[in-house]
Amino acid sequence: MNVLLLGSGGREHALAWKLAQSPKVTQLYAAPGNPGMAECAKCLALDAGDHGAVATFCEANSIALVVIGPEAPLVDGLADSLRENDIAVFGPSKAAAQLEGSKGFTKDLCMRADIPTAKYVRADTLEAAISALDGFSAPFVLKADGLAAGKGVVIAEKKEEALAALQGIFAGEFGEAGASVVIEEFLEGEEASFFAITDGTNILPFGSAQDHKRVGEGDTGPNTGGMGAYSPAPVLTPELQSTVMAQIIEPTVEAMRAEGMPYSGVLYAGLMLTSEGPKLIEYNCRFGDPECQVLMMRLESDLAEIMLACASGELAGVEAKFSKNTALTVVMAANGYPATPEKGGVIDLGKAEAEGAKIFHAGTKTQDGKLIANGGRVLNVTGMGSNVSEAQATTYKAVKAVDFPSGFYRSDIGWREVAREKA
Ligand code: AMP
Ligand code: GLY
Repeated sequence: MNVLLLGSGGREHALAWKLAQSPKVTQLYAAPGNPGMAECAKCLALDAGDHGAVATFCEANSIALVVIGPEAPLVDGLADSLRENDIAVFGPSKAAAQLEGSKGFTKDLCMRADIPTAKYVRADTLEAAISALDGFSAPFVLKADGLAAGKGVVIAEKKEEALAALQGIFAGEFGEAGASVVIEEFLEGEEASFFAITDGTNILPFGSAQDHKRVGEGDTGPNTGGMGAYSPAPVLTPELQSTVMAQIIEPTVEAMRAEGMPYSGVLYAGLMLTSEGPKLIEYNCRFGDPECQVLMMRLESDLAEIMLACASGELAGVEAKFSKNTALTVVMAANGYPATPEKGGVIDLGKAEAEGAKIFHAGTKTQDGKLIANGGRVLNVTGMGSNVSEAQATTYKAVKAVDFPSGFYRSDIGWREVAREKA
């Protein structure tokens, strides 16, 4: 079959790499793709915002499956437009993508379905938000309701900071995303991510991961999209995964179906492992980036088969087999990231992949025959090992073999788990 994959980051390179390994895939197209994806897919310019153009391309090229990588086209309803044209899609409908597109929607669903999550209040005006603050104590957790490119969450230690943040949100700091806010209780614990693929009825657990969101060593400094990740996350023990399935994932899928918004695609749960058990921090309606890269390294099953089964509502009986080994990815970012990444820095990958790692391109382009940086997160160097320490050693050997003078990386990805392995 012919497959069209939409997106251009490291997540999509990892998906493309895995899809291209499937004997079922005749031709893989990627739009817009990136230089790394060009090795396994035909890259082309296609605007995901132009639903008609995507549908026309699919019809002209006998596309049997469209895989939508990022959240924006999902929240924008691209999956609905394609399904109206009888095109199979991996990714949720606009209504179902509200699980990522509106934090308030998800919190209300958790209330209705009795899913463990932080206590919260929604507010649509600055006045209502300020008076709601009285019901909470520091640290205050404030969230713009809509999509804010990962920047819409503020954790304020003091009430004055919280008030200033609320003023900023209602003054339009996050645009439309901040027309409404969620104020919630601060949860204590360790964070972990859990993934499940569902066709709306059947659910296929799809692995765990932990990422490092802060830009600096030791998890300090500003938040980023993620500076590195590893999978599996040993803190999410098989027992905890069963609890997450029973108390969080299954009731969510059930409630979405019962309420006429069946969720189809990958459900990515951001969890806090609290002393009272796992609680949902947030849902994403797509794979994590860079969590997807480590999941794909470990996946032994045919991704195209799983995605097509999901898109066709035929996930019953389908299994996902993962390597028991650990995969770890290190993000090489452009200097200045996350604020103002420097574009255009020259990259020489040399023989880095010969060091036993796979390099996924996240923000690169080719210019005058050279590979250059074209985004904040530029490369995802990904290696495997029998545990996190070994995977970390393999990965950093390859990272050091990459020549990227205008870039930087964190040298401690996986530190928490490495410390536990040594203990
Ligand atoms: P998000 O951008 O939604 O992934 O949130 C960014 C980060 O804020 C999360 O990864 C958590 O570290 C933190 N966070 C969000 N909600 C809470 C909460 N209720 N309690 C503690 N930390 C939170
Ligand atoms: N790495 C976090 C995310 O994809 O949202």
